[in-house]
Amino acid sequence: MHNRIKEKREQALNDKIKVKYPRIRGMKDILFDEYRYFDLVVSKACDIAKAYGFKRIEMPVLERTELYERTTGKLSDIVAKEMYSFVDRGGEKVALRPEATPSLVRAYIEHGMFNQSQPIKTFWSGPLFRYDRPQAGRYRQHNQFNLDIFGEASPMADVLLILIAHTYFKELQLNVEVQINSIGCVGCRKEYLEKLKDYYKPRLLKAKLCTECKKRIVKNPLRVLDCKEPCCVESLREAPHIVDSLDDDCRAHFVKVLEYLDELNIPYNLNPFLVRGLDYYTKTVFEIWPISEETSDVKLVALGGGGRYDDLIEYMGGRATPACGFGIGIERVILKIKENNIILKSESQNAVFLAQIGEQARRKAFVLFEDLRKGGFNASQSFTRDALRAQLEDANRVDAKYTLILGQKEVVDNTILIRDMDSGVQEIVDFKKVIPELTKRLANK
Ligand code: HAM
Repeated sequence: MHNRIKEKREQALNDKIKVKYPRIRGMKDILFDEYRYFDLVVSKACDIAKAYGFKRIEMPVLERTELYERTTGKLSDIVAKEMYSFVDRGGEKVALRPEATPSLVRAYIEHGMFNQSQPIKTFWSGPLFRYDRPQAGRYRQHNQFNLDIFGEASPMADVLLILIAHTYFKELQLNVEVQINSIGCVGCRKEYLEKLKDYYKPRLLKAKLCTECKKRIVKNPLRVLDCKEPCCVESLREAPHIVDSLDDDCRAHFVKVLEYLDELNIPYNLNPFLVRGLDYYTKTVFEIWPISEETSDVKLVALGGGGRYDDLIEYMGGRATPACGFGIGIERVILKIKENNIILKSESQNAVFLAQIGEQARRKAFVLFEDLRKGGFNASQSFTRDALRAQLEDANRVDAKYTLILGQKEVVDNTILIRDMDSGVQEIVDFKKVIPELTKRLANK
């Protein structure tokens, strides 16, 4: 009770404090409650990545601006409109990374990873910066989790990435759909871009495009397919499909990817206008879109996206090396989890709480808590609290299945109480047997 009054008083005080230096628009603090989700979402991704043999890598947040201009593309929205680029004190033009793929490829080349046995499978997680219009699920600093495979041309690599993404979202209990397309190689695209330009040649159709796309159709026609303006989406209705321009090799690659997905029972939607907004992709491109439970409507906010980039490494000065990868938007995944009121299993799975009453019990509890933690239990405690009631409230808060209670009497008798948090029933057990007893009970929960 005392604590609650204190909390209220502190809140009232905070409300009165005017923040002198507020955070920058579009940037977020990740506070404690949010971090529980953050940790889970990232650690689950890391666990799956490790299980599939991916190794962790980190690159600097700051790179030369030119790196992104030459790879992501000078005309891409990310570079042209959203990049935090500035001249540093040494006169060098640098940028806060707006995406990770260019620096990852730079690192692959710079550290001679092509000399190692291929494929090289990497995972990375970290912050990215895009000066976008802030709104729910769109931040100026967001975090991604990326998986990339270097040196593997087989369509199986594309499928492995999609399989991992699919497994990941399934384990998070999020209903998603894979949107997939192939944009072929440079040769296929050349043919397609001509077809697309021809399609938009009639003045009336071109007039339907937004102002920006009227320029794009001349300078960078593929970007018209990315435009979210309703008039541009509408204008695409009869537009040619890029898959119809694929050469034999690109077509065979795409057919294999789809066949494997069918075999693995991974549902996908062939999306003829999915091209992704970055310049380096070749062949397979895909995005993961959430499906809303109530309406089964696919909301157009991608939770992740990626594809092949077979030409990028050579283009950046490395040896010709096929590659593919994808990125998941951590904040967007967390938003979806919250929106669907999903209680993450691992949050409360095997959760146990250790409560203590009195000095001697607390000392013994410290040791037991370490044994529980090392034994792999999802253990919590409130060693700074004295009252049992407050500790039981904490146990409820972490959704503990069992609370172990150690009081003076139990210390003397060498016993401990196990309280079933659902039924409230408490039983005395031999202190030495507490861990096997807890394991047995949790297995039956
Ligand atoms: P991307 O599609 O730009 O791809 O971003 C991947 C994901 O990051 C998006 O699907 C979305 O979930 C999230 N995301 C992007 N921008 C924001 C934002 N402003 N706020 C919140 N979340 C955002 C790439 O970045 C590629 N480099 C991925 C890749 C890796 N391709 C190959 N390897």
